[in-house]
Amino acid sequence: MAVRSVRRMGDPLLWARAQEVTDVSPAALADLVRDMKDTMAALNGAGLAAPQIGVPLRVVVFGVGANPRYPGTPEIPETILVNPLVEPLSDEQEEGWEGCLSVPGMRGLVPRYRRVRYRGLDIEGAAIDREVEGFHARVVQHECDHLDGVLYPSRIRDLRFFGFESVLFPEGFAGADG
Ligand code: NI
Repeated sequence: MAVRSVRRMGDPLLWARAQEVTDVSPAALADLVRDMKDTMAALNGAGLAAPQIGVPLRVVVFGVGANPRYPGTPEIPETILVNPLVEPLSDEQEEGWEGCLSVPGMRGLVPRYRRVRYRGLDIEGAAIDREVEGFHARVVQHECDHLDGVLYPSRIRDLRFFGFESVLFPEGFAGADG
């Protein structure tokens, strides 16, 4: 188990495009993926991208389990995606609140495509090809943005809806960072 430190906004690596993984064998990726999962779990994250722990490769992990504290929060199966591709299934977008492990303590209202198709390889090299919507689609778009050097504050349309979680949501916020 290795929980790695997460790079925070201001670090140039977070604004850089990550490289395609050329050796997609489980042996090559096992340590990285294990560290990403350990780090995400330790921080109660909804997702994590490799550049966030300082590895500039196109790998993301995400997943949201049932949480008895937040009934009604949609579940997302735990997923590892290597060299992902994301494409919108329609032009329709919706706004939703996001947070990021690289921007701790903050929340922002971010427009995302409502329905997307995503593809990639899992840790065993098997193809993943899913069509998803809503929160699942949002998490995938947030994580894959990290691989293109995009942090969610760049996508906020109105900065009045960007701020400290404790100020925006004094009663608490039922959600996880990615
Ligand atoms: Ni993030």
